[in-house]
This record gives sequence, structure tokens and C-alpha cells, in this order.
Amino acid sequence: MTDPVLLKVKNLVTAFDVESGVIHAVENVSFDVKSGKTLGIVGESGCGKSVTSLSIMRLLPKPSGYVVSGEILLDKLDLLKLPPQEMRKIRGNRISMIFQEPMTALNPVHRIGKQIREALHLHHSEMSDALILQESVALLRKVGIPAPEQRINEYPHQLSGGMRQRVMIAIALACRPEILIADEPTTALDVTIQAQILELMKSLQKESGMSIIFITHDLGVIAEMCDEVVVMYAGKVAEKANVLDLFKFPRHPYTKGLMASIPNLDMPPKEKLQTIEGVVPELTALPPGCRFQNRCVFQIPRCHAISPPLEQVHENHFVSCFRWQEIEAKTNSH
Ligand SMILES: Nc1ncnc2c1ncn2[C@@H]1O[C@H](COP(=O)(O)OP(=O)(O)OP(=O)(O)O)[C@@H](O)[C@H]1O
Ligand SMILES: [Mg+2]
Repeated sequence: MTDPVLLKVKNLVTAFDVESGVIHAVENVSFDVKSGKTLGIVGESGCGKSVTSLSIMRLLPKPSGYVVSGEILLDKLDLLKLPPQEMRKIRGNRISMIFQEPMTALNPVHRIGKQIREALHLHHSEMSDALILQESVALLRKVGIPAPEQRINEYPHQLSGGMRQRVMIAIALACRPEILIADEPTTALDVTIQAQILELMKSLQKESGMSIIFITHDLGVIAEMCDEVVVMYAGKVAEKANVLDLFKFPRHPYTKGLMASIPNLDMPPKEKLQTIEGVVPELTALPPGCRFQNRCVFQIPRCHAISPPLEQVHENHFVSCFRWQEIEAKTNSH
């Protein structure tokens, strides 16, 4: 049985007005977030991961950033059509977000407790102060903060990076959201702390049944966390698949390149990791045809003239590349 779709992003186009004109940071992006599952969005810096999540939250920087077209359906509700006060009720209540650098999201002049209380109070105005305090301590305990009764009186700078990120998770979970958007939540942390935070998120998801949109540039984290994956390149979807299919049968040259750059224990020691030559094109100067053409070892003349459509190549597996069949033949096949 397939899991029901909770959030559907359909043909999303998001633009910014910049000095030289208008750029499309997200171009025709579609994906489904299933109930209780984790969807990963992966790609190099600047490929449009954060702009996609800010579009869903309707938190694009105004007035330069705006959604040009598309639909964002939460159940059947199109978030893009909601009046601002209705959207405020969705944020934090039904969809929450945690950011890469918790110091920028936490208020440095307020104690931790006050910030959690505010989140709880915003959405449960009926709760008494005593109950809110009790709930705040319980939330901190749930995200693994030791001695929460004391920690609640501390300021963000008194906590380590990992502890601050746990507090951010506690705030995001205060209202039991149906969807948690985690935008590179562990990038600023060292690897052991990163592993703990990922484990925490997985166990909280198991307990609450929430869906997660997990944004990262790290395919290793994708393998660890996600059920389905969207690989983005220069604002577009390059490949989209179930996580097992993606790792077993990558069909886009960019996905293959990302995978070749992950360290592998079977490699001879000191073997140099492969990198993808070249850089992502500027959104202000996109070439006609495929956006990956200048870095692609599989390119043919057609790639320079026509943009490859996102084609379904297998059940639940989509690729935007004219040459996926040859790439597949070089790997394995289903
Ligand atoms: N405030 C802005 N004004 C103008 N252009 C912007 C703005 N924010 C983002 N962009 C454009 O959108 C593109 C995508 O940005 P985005 O922040 O989504 O990248 P990202 O995939 O999240 O990268 P990273 O991994 O570095 O966080 C950028 O390359 C930039 O061209
Ligand atoms: Mg980002």
C-alpha cells in the first residue's frame, strides 16, 4: 500500500528581482511528501533548496522574492492562496521549520525557557502558565537536554551548538507539527553531535508520525534519513526517486557525480576522491538546453539546444537527462 500524500508541491516557480532582471531560483519543481515519511532535498550550494522550503513556508524575503506559479497543497489546501493570517496559523501549527544555524534563529537576549513558552503560548493560548512551564521542561527532556529545569533559565550562548540545535527542535515540535522542514540542521555541528541529532529526529518522527522534509548537501545524510529523494541542480529537479533506487541505480550524471564524491571504505587508502569538474552556472546567465551541460561527461549536441524533460524511467523514479538509458546500461538495471 502506498502512503497517503500530505504535502504536494506542484510545478513551483520562485523568482527574485535582482539588479540585472529576474532570476528563477526554483524552476518547475514538483514533489510529494508522504505521511510519516522523510523526503530529502539534496544538491550543491545555491541549487534552490532553501528557496524551495521558504516558498512552502511563505517566508521568502520580501519584496524581492516571490512565487511566480505552481501549487503547494497541504491535504487539499493550497497554501499559496491562503490569506496571511491563515498562513500564520499553518506555520508552527501544521508545518514547522528548523534552520542551519540555531544562533540566528534563537533570540540571544531571552532565556531558553521564555522562547519555548512563547512558541507554546502562541498556539495554546488556553494553557495556564504552570502547564506551559511543565510542558516546556517535558519538551527539553524529550529532545535530550540534561537537567531541563535548570537549562530552561539559561541563555542561548550558555549552550553548546548541539544543545542549541536540540532547543530549536523542541521549539519546532512545541505544536506537534504534521510536517517538519529541517534545512541543513546539522551542518554546523561536528560529526558525533550530528549523528545524535539525526537519531533524535528519527526517534521523534517514529513517536509522532510527522513527515520531514530534510535538506542537505550531504548524500550520506540522505541515505541515513530519507525515504525519498529529490536531487536539485541550478533550480531544477535533476532526479527524483525512492532512496534505495537512487543509490542503486542513479541515472543522472550529476547524481552519479555526487555519489562518486562520497568516501568509500572499499577504496584503496589515499585514493583521491572524485569531484565534479566545473561550477554551477549563474542563474543570470543560464545556457540554453540542459543546465548541467558544462560539467557533464555524457553531453551530446542536443543537450546544448533543448532542456531535457523530467521523464519517468521506472516506478517512482524520474530523471531529467537525454542519456539516462546509456548511463543505466553502464551501471546496472532494474
Ligand atoms: N534574497 C535573495 N535575493 C536574490 N537571489 C537569491 C536570494 N536568495 C537566494 N537567491 C538565489 O537563489 C539561489 C538558490 O538559493 P538557495 O538559498 O535556495 O540555495 P541552497 O540550495 O539552499 O544553497 P545552500 O546549500 O548554500 O544553502 C541562489 O543561488 C541565489 O541565486
Ligand atoms: Mg540553503
